[in-house]
Amino acid sequence: MGLVLAFLLAVTTLSQQVTCATLRPSYKAIFNFGDSFSDTGNVAILAPKGLYIVNPPYGETYFNRPTGRASNGRVVLDFIAQSIPLPLVPPYLAKGQDFSKGANFAVARATALDFNFYKENNIIPTSSLTLLNISLSVQLNWFENLKPSLCNTTDACNLYFNSSLFLLGTIGFSDYNTMLTAGKTLDFVNSKVPDVVGSITSAATSLLDQGVQHMVLPGVVPLGCLPRILTTYVSPNLSDYDSIGCLQRYNNISQYHNRILQDAVKQLQIEFPKAVISYADYYQPITEFLAKPILYGFTVNGSPLVACCGGGGPYNYNSSAVCGQSGVAACPDPTTVNWDGIAFTEKAYNIIANGWRNGVFAIPPI
Ligand SMILES: *[C@@H]1O[C@H](CO)[C@@H](O)[C@H](O)[C@H]1NC(C)=O
Ligand SMILES: *[C@@H]1O[C@H](CO)[C@@H](O)[C@H](O)[C@H]1NC(C)=O
Ligand SMILES: *[C@@H]1O[C@H](CO)[C@@H](O)[C@H](O)[C@H]1NC(C)=O
Ligand SMILES: *[C@@H]1O[C@H](CO)[C@@H](O)[C@H](O)[C@H]1NC(C)=O
Ligand SMILES: *[C@@H]1O[C@H](CO)[C@@H](O)[C@H](O)[C@H]1NC(C)=O
Ligand SMILES: *[C@@H]1O[C@H](CO)[C@@H](O)[C@H](O)[C@H]1NC(C)=O
Repeated sequence: MGLVLAFLLAVTTLSQQVTCATLRPSYKAIFNFGDSFSDTGNVAILAPKGLYIVNPPYGETYFNRPTGRASNGRVVLDFIAQSIPLPLVPPYLAKGQDFSKGANFAVARATALDFNFYKENNIIPTSSLTLLNISLSVQLNWFENLKPSLCNTTDACNLYFNSSLFLLGTIGFSDYNTMLTAGKTLDFVNSKVPDVVGSITSAATSLLDQGVQHMVLPGVVPLGCLPRILTTYVSPNLSDYDSIGCLQRYNNISQYHNRILQDAVKQLQIEFPKAVISYADYYQPITEFLAKPILYGFTVNGSPLVACCGGGGPYNYNSSAVCGQSGVAACPDPTTVNWDGIAFTEKAYNIIANGWRNGVFAIPPI
């Protein structure tokens, strides 16, 4: 009797595993598009001059050297790759790489809107954040160029894409950051959010039209919680801050972006019913880490909003002494939420990636 029960349980467990496996195939390749939150080395190859992320202490925690990632270690994309498991996704601009298991087209500072938009609107950043002519459409062109080396016929591409995971984002942060840096008003930035999301949606449509079956669309991080924004746009008016201490007006941009991106995902799910299309969240996990840092095991240096690596100030962000500049140190234990005033720590990215895989921070799980 006990044996029969055990057998039945085993059968049940097995069939549950089969169901899970059908929902979540074992991916054989990963392709990623985006900005600094998922760049694994492209900007460092493209424009290393004056770039601080190519200096220590970037990379200190996992790679023991700077790799062109804007973090102390791995980013979400790295954790996704390792959890499958697949090799870390090589940057597309790195020569002599084998891209058969995937390629990363993300470039730090890349925008969703084309370079021409910034030119036509006279958005010339005044800070060191010079704009590169690398937008989502340029990254899609790179993919087009790579594609013949991956698959040559529609059937071959369908087969290959059926076991490939495509991540499109996070992207949009650099659009908003660039507009703000150029002195554009919040009203102007908010008015461009539908265009930014529209650019992401048309990139997604183009990939899905080419037979992509597994697509993840990550939202943007809470802008108003970033030390760079909190420092630059500090307000004497307490009512400008939410209960965590983030600037509500700037978080509103992110909330607006994420809301219409989720609407777009629902629309894409209807248009491409055979594909599995996920919305993956950065916003909610980051605000949860900031609200309950101890629960998630983060170190708090005064306030959970304070960056680990920076040149002083209330949020340890100083535009004249940023992380990677000589003489600017990291905190001894880089298990804070924020790393350098914009990017997050490897610890934060690890928890976010787990949440995307198990469905806590992504719908459906990836
Ligand atoms: C930006 O890049 C695109 C394609 O890579 C090119 O067609 C365009 O001329 C470039 N624009 C500028 C202003 O350099
Ligand atoms: C596709 O065709 C090109 C040109 O013939 C060739 O170089 C490439 O290796 C082919 N790709 C695959 C995946 O077979
Ligand atoms: C790819 O998967 C879809 C279902 O997700 C299926 O309809 C299609 O036949 C598959 N294509 C290949 C070439 O396996
Ligand atoms: C603070 O902000 C609130 C809400 O925006 C506004 O009603 C109030 O007048 C502001 N107070 C000061 C002192 O600026
Ligand atoms: C944020 O957006 C909501 C609606 O989306 C609006 O009601 C609220 O006033 C906005 N807050 C600020 C500070 O802009
Ligand atoms: C920011 O860095 C500059 C240059 O190192 C320094 O002079 C200034 O005191 C720093 N500001 C703060 C708030 O630490």
